[in-house]
Amino acid sequence: MTAHTRVSIPFTARATATEVLDGVDLTGRRMIVTGGASGIGTETVRALAGAGAEVTVATRNPATADELVAEFAGSGPGTVRAAGLDLADLASVDAFVAAWEGPLHALVANAGVMAIPTRQLTPQGWELQLGTNYLGHFALARGLHDNLRVAGSARVVVVSSGAHLREAFDFDDPQFERQPYDRWAAYGRSKTAEVLLAVGIARRWATDGITANALNPGFITTNLQRHMDDETLRAFGAMDEAGNRIEQPYFKTPAQGAATSVLLAASPLVEGVTGRYFDDNQEADVVAGGPEATGGVAAHAVDPAAADRLWAYASQALASLGRG
Ligand SMILES: NC(=O)c1ccc[n+]([C@@H]2O[C@H](COP(=O)([O-])OP(=O)(O)OC[C@H]3O[C@@H](n4cnc5c(N)ncnc54)[C@H](OP(=O)(O)O)[C@@H]3O)[C@@H](O)[C@H]2O)c1
Repeated sequence: MTAHTRVSIPFTARATATEVLDGVDLTGRRMIVTGGASGIGTETVRALAGAGAEVTVATRNPATADELVAEFAGSGPGTVRAAGLDLADLASVDAFVAAWEGPLHALVANAGVMAIPTRQLTPQGWELQLGTNYLGHFALARGLHDNLRVAGSARVVVVSSGAHLREAFDFDDPQFERQPYDRWAAYGRSKTAEVLLAVGIARRWATDGITANALNPGFITTNLQRHMDDETLRAFGAMDEAGNRIEQPYFKTPAQGAATSVLLAASPLVEGVTGRYFDDNQEADVVAGGPEATGGVAAHAVDPAAADRLWAYASQALASLGRG
């Protein structure tokens, strides 16, 4: 990465999404939060709509957002609606994009799946974690590019994970066709791909007034951990030997986990900032990455050459599926 001035942000890891947007008026701004019907996504939606934005929850099952939609119905200040989107299926992404009209001020690519136990494929034949977390968001962002552009000053926010630190993107076998499937490697690589997506957008769409940044929300107990077995939960310090869940002091609440997402989607503190990675509401240091890395952003995830190569790989995949 080229040297740049780090932004100064007065929030710690414990700040909530609502605190980060205190005093920010998002009236008239239209935003999409994928996976907004649960976990970190729901608190992201609450904070953005609470600051006045018109938020669309993009979810596989819109009925799961009924309560969230009702929370803002009639009372404001912002509004919440739900729309169907299955990121694992490009036909669903196409339909979502086709139905979107008008400007889009922020796209929060928050939805994700983690540690799917066996190698599964999307309808288009991509390994499911990469297909959902990365390719679906790539196709969505690319499909909505004109809507982002006409907004004049739009932001793309990609919710990655500290799991990216251990896994560079494997360009030789991205779909686990030749190596044995490993659910954690697949997750980590998909999260590296997501950081590279933000870097790729930052490199291509700056002249359209579009910025893009990635983030790690921290450790938050949500539905995401549904595929974690007891042994893994113990390794994360999230379960004791008797099988009881443990709340570690570094765990965050969903409202704290959503803080960095809304900071990047809507705070004036990061206006114009692009192509970077944030953690605990601060810009992260670039580190070497690998099995011992515990914090920061890995050099392999912010490498411009890797971002360009991945962009080309995904573009080619979409083109081969008739999406030029
Ligand atoms: N929780 C953590 O500790 C943690 C740590 C690091 C990174 N993250 C990242 O934070 C993001 C949010 O996760 P979370 O913790 O809030 O977990 P969550 O509650 O499980 O939320 C994930 C969301 O993704 C949606 N989703 C999954 N597959 C989808 C698909 N094919 N199409 C559309 N939506 C889909 C889910 O919708 P359904 O309801 O339809 O399943 C769900 O709303 C994820 O990207 C995750 O990798 C979380």
